Amino acid sequence: MNILDLQLPTKSSDYQILIGKDLLSDSNNFSSVIKGQQVFIVSNETVAPLYLKVLKNSLSQYETHSYILKDGEKYKSLGSLEDILDSMLKVGLRRNATLIALGGGVVGDISGFAAAIYQRGISFIQVPTTLLSQVDSSVGGKTAVNHPSGKNMLGAFHQPVRVVTDLNTLKTLPKREFLAGVAEIIKASVIADRDFFEWLELNTESILAQESATLATMIQRACGIKAKIVSLDEKEQGVRAWLNLGHTFGHAIERALGFGKLLHGEAVAIGMVMAAEYSVKLGLLSPSESVAIKRLTQGFGLPTNIETQVDDVSTSELVSAMALDKKNVDTDLTLILPKAIGKVTIEHNIKTQDVEQFIEQYLE
Ligand SMILES: NC(=O)c1ccc[n+]([C@@H]2O[C@H](COP(=O)([O-])OP(=O)(O)OC[C@H]3O[C@@H](n4cnc5c(N)ncnc54)[C@H](O)[C@@H]3O)[C@@H](O)[C@H]2O)c1
Repeated sequence: MNILDLQLPTKSSDYQILIGKDLLSDSNNFSSVIKGQQVFIVSNETVAPLYLKVLKNSLSQYETHSYILKDGEKYKSLGSLEDILDSMLKVGLRRNATLIALGGGVVGDISGFAAAIYQRGISFIQVPTTLLSQVDSSVGGKTAVNHPSGKNMLGAFHQPVRVVTDLNTLKTLPKREFLAGVAEIIKASVIADRDFFEWLELNTESILAQESATLATMIQRACGIKAKIVSLDEKEQGVRAWLNLGHTFGHAIERALGFGKLLHGEAVAIGMVMAAEYSVKLGLLSPSESVAIKRLTQGFGLPTNIETQVDDVSTSELVSAMALDKKNVDTDLTLILPKAIGKVTIEHNIKTQDVEQFIEQYLE
């Protein structure tokens, strides 16, 4: 088992991420951080039939309850949150109870929010079951639900007391979802760790074959990068924005295509490659490094070009979708751009028109 000790500026919120095989069936992975007698598990209708039983068996010494969400991003809503909270109140969950999120980022985000606000906050354990949630949404303590006006509009920061990443769960994850998680991992390496980028190049086959030891190292290193960035900036005032590499282009593509056509990780893959090429255009990144980013992304079978995805979307629609990004104050854009593999820069005051021209060339 690999263990990553996460140290956050507020010492009281330090926690461990456990990564390995068969972790769900070992009660010690949970009991050492569960304080009270009550455990409330939130999962969804896809994940629960696969893993809820084994988790419940490990928690047999506790009074356990569970809530099963419908599957899908649209259920990361205030309505679902209210249902979860109602159910927690109905079973008489006390303040010293522990909530466990068993599922991907959707389950993790909404459960974390429920834990953050239930009786002003209860203890929370993440059991992420998608690669994306294992390397991204389970680190950093962001919890949220969506609102008709936008994604993740309502939420709170609430750190888990532990993350239990059981590699067995990845065996049932659809390949496309697995690769979307890989996109976030490549992104992390491009942001902050050249050595890890080169490791990903060397280990592409082993990762695609889902060899456990390789996956454990990969997840640990990716979490380490995110944790380091988050610990520098727990409440998202500055460097945490680096994590948005590829997001401005990516979100625009998602928005312009209509959410749901591409997985978020796939949009980030395209967005990251676009950001690298735009960075070359601005003279910030060498062409060879941009090519290496594209090659690694393609090596995993991820999309790198919007051409095939946006036949019916005009450049101006894409650009106006970008301008709506909440990170952009006036009409100019702010972009996170790689200036080398392992280093990014936050570039403000980028002219919308310049980006528009770039997209036009990119689409040619
Ligand atoms: N809090 C954060 O810092 C943060 C960071 C990134 C993303 N997010 C959020 O995470 C969400 C996306 O997370 P996601 O990509 O994990 O999506 P998801 O939770 O929707 O899971 C993707 C699909 O895989 C299924 N699934 C999950 N685990 C499985 C398994 N082991 N086997 C088979 N199927 C499985 C799910 O039921 C779902 O259909 C978004 O809502 C996003 O906003 C949050």
